[in-house]
Amino acid sequence: MSADDFIVTPWHVEGDIDYDKLVKRFGTEKISSVLSERIKKVAGEDHFMLRRGIFFSHREMNRILDDYEKGNKFFLYTGRGPSGHTHIGHLIPWVFAKWLQEKFDVNMYFQLTDDEKFYAKPNLTLEDTSKFAYENALDFIALGFKPEKTKIIINTRNIQTLYPIAAQVAKKINFSNTKATFGFTNETNIGMIFYTALQSAPCFIEDKPVLIPLGVDQDPHFRLTRDIAPKIGKPKPALIHNIMIPSLEGPGGKMSASDENGTVYTTDAPNIVKKKINKYAFSGGQPDIEEHRKLGGNPDIDVSFQYLRIFFEPDDNKLKSIYEDYKSGKLLSGELKAILIEKINDFLAVHQEKREKAKSQIDQFLFENK
Ligand code: TYM
Repeated sequence: MSADDFIVTPWHVEGDIDYDKLVKRFGTEKISSVLSERIKKVAGEDHFMLRRGIFFSHREMNRILDDYEKGNKFFLYTGRGPSGHTHIGHLIPWVFAKWLQEKFDVNMYFQLTDDEKFYAKPNLTLEDTSKFAYENALDFIALGFKPEKTKIIINTRNIQTLYPIAAQVAKKINFSNTKATFGFTNETNIGMIFYTALQSAPCFIEDKPVLIPLGVDQDPHFRLTRDIAPKIGKPKPALIHNIMIPSLEGPGGKMSASDENGTVYTTDAPNIVKKKINKYAFSGGQPDIEEHRKLGGNPDIDVSFQYLRIFFEPDDNKLKSIYEDYKSGKLLSGELKAILIEKINDFLAVHQEKREKAKSQIDQFLFENK
């Protein structure tokens, strides 16, 4: 891989992602200002993640809105591969999904793929992945989804419901398609080869079109699902993609649950957050204070600023003044980090409380096989 290249697949993200190039590579569409305005109009409210291009790409979002305006509802679907605790990056599509549920008043399905992570990670047992499925479900519930309109699907638990749908899908995907899409080799275990059929299954769980808010790394699965949908007489899933939040340690990689130092988990204590940000957050500042005051910092590469932009500072005016102060040298790197630490810890204090409450709510959310 050359220095300016990058890799984005569901199991591997590497390099500094050029999102314009990625849109071309994946064959998705950028969210234009016209579409962004249209979503705002139909939803009746703006969302900062749309306004700032955190959600930057889509497949057939216009069809979903056309149908909705004719009175035909869609449903929402997203998921998590439970390989560890939830991190801030995972929350991006879920926070946006929660907003969509609220604004469009639609059903939501959340898939926990305990099987996928068992297949994909040599060191994880099924007990491990099912333990993390429970932990991740708490984070999802903590975001405030409506229990009467939201169901959590756990693959090993709900296989009875998923399997007949997955079988329809699997029959239409051949090995050369999955191999080309995911780069599988002869050494890839056959659980992985079949898996895409299971991630596709919830797309067809209701007899309505589905809209999937998700990180762009997961798009390849649904490219296959969209190809086969007409062959099984179903509507193609529509997608709306978010960018990948970078690792704390810099723009060269996404935040990943397996990289402790580069990751802020929802379960982190305030002193851990403080330590991680101060020690690891990649800075766009100058090497010393004098130079920083003179030359200013670069917020566009500064990870702390990016976290504020992507997630933690929804107020545009506040964000703008942080941007300008940092760029002019008025705000020092340590001060910028302090702003972020406070924002994250305020968010996590509330989230962790709701996460505790979710323990007594989880039963209401679990999908029951019919
Ligand atoms: P997983 O567990 O890798 O990720 C869960 C969701 O979080 C997104 N994501 C990120 N978004 C921004 N920045 C990051 N650094 C970051 N890391 C992960 C992912 O794109 C995903 O939306 N196979 C899936 C689970 C799944 C799923 C789905 C995901 C099952 N059905 C339907 C999306 C839609 C997985 O392992 O996701």
